Amino acid sequence: MRQLIAGNWKMNGLLTEATTLAQHISAAAAGLACDLLVCPPATAVHIVAATLSGCGIGVGGQDCHAEEKGAHTGDISAAMLRDAGATWVILGHSERRADHGETDAMVLAKVDAAVTAGLTPIVCVGETEAQRLAGRQEEVVGAQLVGSLPKDFASSGASVGVVAYEPVWAIGTGRTPTEADVAAMHAFIRKTLLAHLGPAGQGVRILYGGSMKPANAKALLALPEVGGGLIGGASLKAPDFLAIAEAAVGG
Ligand code: PGA
Repeated sequence: MRQLIAGNWKMNGLLTEATTLAQHISAAAAGLACDLLVCPPATAVHIVAATLSGCGIGVGGQDCHAEEKGAHTGDISAAMLRDAGATWVILGHSERRADHGETDAMVLAKVDAAVTAGLTPIVCVGETEAQRLAGRQEEVVGAQLVGSLPKDFASSGASVGVVAYEPVWAIGTGRTPTEADVAAMHAFIRKTLLAHLGPAGQGVRILYGGSMKPANAKALLALPEVGGGLIGGASLKAPDFLAIAEAAVGG
C-alpha cells in the first residue's frame, strides 16, 4: 500500500500564505512514491484546492459537523468541505477532543457524515502522557478505535478510511515515542481494526503523527504497519514536508 503523507496546517495560513505553500509543495511533488494530502484551515480549502487542481495532491478539512446542515453557528458540514474542493477530512484530532470536548460518539457521527458527503475520513487516536505512564495506552486507543469507527469504516464510500495514531504528548513537543513503542502500538491498532472491522481492516492505512520531521521520518516510516504520517508543524514548510514525503515508501 502506498504511504500517505498528510499535512495538518491547523489554524495557520492566510489565503496568500496558504496559496504560496500549496504552490511550493506542488512544484516539487512530481515523482514522489507516496500519496500527498494537505489539510488547510477551512477558509483556505477552496483556494488551495484550486491551486492544486490536477496535480494529484489531495485536499482535506480538519473537522466537520455531524449534521448535513442547519442551525449550528460557526460549524462547517462535510458537504461544504466537499463543495469547496476537499475530498478528505481529519476527524477526532486530540486538539478537537480537548478544545471542543469531542467524544468518540461524536467522532463516529462525523465519520458517517463525512463518508455520506464523499469525503475520506482520517480518524485520530492517541493517549495522553499520564495514560502512557500508567501503562493504559492500549486500553485508551482501543476504546477510541471501537468508539469512533463505524463497522463499515474500511468498506463504505469511495475510499477506505484512515487511522492516525498521535500520542497527545508527542504533538508539537519535539518528543516522539521510541521506534519499538510506535511499532507495538501500530501492531495493536491493526489487531483491533481486524477484530472491529473484519478482514477489511487490513486495508486501513495507519499513520503515525506527533513531531514527525525530516530527521526522524525515515526511521518512523520504515516501521511495520506505519502507513504514512500526519504532520503538523513540519508541514508548514514546503521543504520539510517534501523531505518527509521523500522518506515515504510507495506501494
Ligand atoms: P506535530 O502535529 O507534527 O506538530 O507534532 C501533528 C498533528 O497534530 O497532527
